[in-house]
Amino acid sequence: MLKIGVIGVGTVGTSVVNILKNSADIITARAGQEIVVVSGVVNNLNKDRGVDIKLSKDPMDIINDPEIDVVVELMGGVDEAFVVVKAALEKGKAVVTANKALLAYHRYELQELAGDIAFEYEASVAGGIPIINALRDGLSANHIESIKGIMNGTCNYMLTKMMKEGVDYQPILDEAQALGYAEADPTFDVGGFDAAHKLLILASIAYGIDAKPEDILIEGIDNITQDDIAFAKEFDYVIKLLTIAEKSGNEVELRTHATLVKNEEMIAKIDGVMNGVSVVGDMVGETLYYGPGAGGNATASAVVANIVDIARRGKGSPMLGFTKPLEKGLKLKSKDEIVSKYYLRMGVEDKPGVLSSVTKMFAEHEISIETVLQRPCDNGAATLLFATHEAVEKNIQSIIKELAAASFVHSKPSMIRIES
Ligand code: HSE
Repeated sequence: MLKIGVIGVGTVGTSVVNILKNSADIITARAGQEIVVVSGVVNNLNKDRGVDIKLSKDPMDIINDPEIDVVVELMGGVDEAFVVVKAALEKGKAVVTANKALLAYHRYELQELAGDIAFEYEASVAGGIPIINALRDGLSANHIESIKGIMNGTCNYMLTKMMKEGVDYQPILDEAQALGYAEADPTFDVGGFDAAHKLLILASIAYGIDAKPEDILIEGIDNITQDDIAFAKEFDYVIKLLTIAEKSGNEVELRTHATLVKNEEMIAKIDGVMNGVSVVGDMVGETLYYGPGAGGNATASAVVANIVDIARRGKGSPMLGFTKPLEKGLKLKSKDEIVSKYYLRMGVEDKPGVLSSVTKMFAEHEISIETVLQRPCDNGAATLLFATHEAVEKNIQSIIKELAAASFVHSKPSMIRIES
């Protein structure tokens, strides 16, 4: 019998306990032994969670319990979770976590600490989609050329509703929180950090890149307005929070940001809380993965799969799937050198010479305009909307600064990258 302790019995933890109990027949058959949740850790002992396991408030009660074989870490956060997981490994206990923030910062140290103790984290990326398994095991024969996806269910749910139903930002964020999709601090979702954490995990498995969140380009969806949505609709785009890892030569670019994606692209059709990931390998070509990216049962499905795997195998294979540098000389591309097409929106004074001043600035920054649109507003103001041809990130950042400082521009220009 494999005995489990769950640290963090919230939405996902409760689902883990329930799945292991209610689907015990198939789980025992697949695992080759019975799996039982013995105890859990919660912040508030007075809240009824509808689970009949021993509960305490101290993670060390589970770590120090010699009966527990596998620690399931669902507490979230970085520092305290690292201490807890490290202590579990030091006691020789296998670990299963859904904690992408922890892995975004400590995955290489944890791989080292785990050694041949099983350490699994399928639920940390794209909820219920077995993308870690696919990338680490199913595609191990491939050099990975790119990973592109929608990996935050909350943002995708919000953007879908904003685009299709014209719903405002805040009420739809409240709804995503009530449905259990959003992180405890939803800034992680709407600011792009949650998706970036997932990207870093996948980039390690695919490329062996050891980057931290501060090293990569991370933007969220908090600036998207109905003006942007109207532009997207007019030019047959949808707006998605896209997460991209792409290799060219000996460089890998890693970025997460709101993106205008053409309607006909497969990724444009991934709506609501669903996630979708495309992985291109040099041998297999393009492979696609689709499924729910958040929610208690979907995430718990991945956690339980890891527990079943540990019950079958006992020891772990290297956590990130390799023991040596993967591709020698491969390095992270500087954020400034990323090349993309861009959309810019700005409020300006509606008077002679403004448009020509703006287009002159584009020329000076070596940015070529593909589309321009002007919408009149009240009080002698107008909104200018531009789509560019491919340009270099540092040039876009410097024109945004210059435009923001220009006397005829009313507010800092808003920018969305265009995926082509
Ligand atoms: N808050 C995350 C999301 C949960 O919305 O996708 C899954 O990581």
